[in-house]
Amino acid sequence: MPLEAEPVRLAGGPILIGSANAVRTCTKAAELIAAGSHPLDAVVTGINIVEDDPSDHSVGYGGLPNEDGVVQLDSCVMDGPTHRAGAVAALERVKNPSSVALLVARRTDHALLVGEGALRFARAHGFQEQELLTDEARKIWLDWKETHSDKDDWLHPEADKESSRWRREEGKNWTTGTITCMALTEGGHMAGCTSTSGLSYKLSGRVGDSPIIGAGLYVDNEFGACGSTGRGEANIQNCSSFLVVELMSRGMSPKEACLEVLKRVAKHTEKRLRNKKGEPDYGLTFYALRKDGQFGGAAMRGETKMAVYDGKECTTVGLEGLYKD
Ligand code: GLY
Repeated sequence: MPLEAEPVRLAGGPILIGSANAVRTCTKAAELIAAGSHPLDAVVTGINIVEDDPSDHSVGYGGLPNEDGVVQLDSCVMDGPTHRAGAVAALERVKNPSSVALLVARRTDHALLVGEGALRFARAHGFQEQELLTDEARKIWLDWKETHSDKDDWLHPEADKESSRWRREEGKNWTTGTITCMALTEGGHMAGCTSTSGLSYKLSGRVGDSPIIGAGLYVDNEFGACGSTGRGEANIQNCSSFLVVELMSRGMSPKEACLEVLKRVAKHTEKRLRNKKGEPDYGLTFYALRKDGQFGGAAMRGETKMAVYDGKECTTVGLEGLYKD
């Protein structure tokens, strides 16, 4: 399959795209949309599959915890035609933050609930509470805790003068991984969802881009949708997903829009987050779906993949990096 399909409606069915870990998500969501589900319900149900999977340490149950060993989850949803959005941030003890975010959109007049308030809202809707830290994730966290020296998220006053301070040690398990998925139905209804356990070993209460509309996800039914994975702070500082959709609305292809936003993010990157060549030294990927069905994406560093359900089947396709690894 080409990286960017021609803007045609393939096989007459829905189109779904997402991060590389969203193959099961896109497949399930496509099945549900074909059976008549609302696309937002379909996408969230698809995301639930990965949130429930303890082997994905970037999302939901089994996600890597914050520096205190507590799993705090972020998620948002957005519906194209109504422009309604809902989100939860730093949610503990509930494994499906995307389902709670969907209820924030549908059953409150708000767009974002955080922490204890988000948990109380989830409880009110009958969500079960459970320990989200699996034994496997706890051992990974403990290894980090026992060996991290100064490689954490606290910055000393001189940190801005350093380059390559990006503090992830080789061989250590950590993630800015996330899952994102967006749908376009045959009737032109767009919807999206992003969900994550966030930056591993983050400070308690840190909120990433995934529950921030315009940062980790944006859907405009007139023009298109964009979701993102990777360093959330970069997306919050650059309103990245909104900007990708905005650039598509001005005529850019999805891939062009993603690359343009990556260039802007790169330009705004602080010295301590650059490598010796001066390039951003972190991962960031955009996945974009235009209203006419064209899709594409791009990554900050190296090659990566995106999941695409093109109306017939779900596969992964390669995405270019702005910088080579
Ligand atoms: N994109 C995931 C995060 O930074 O929390």
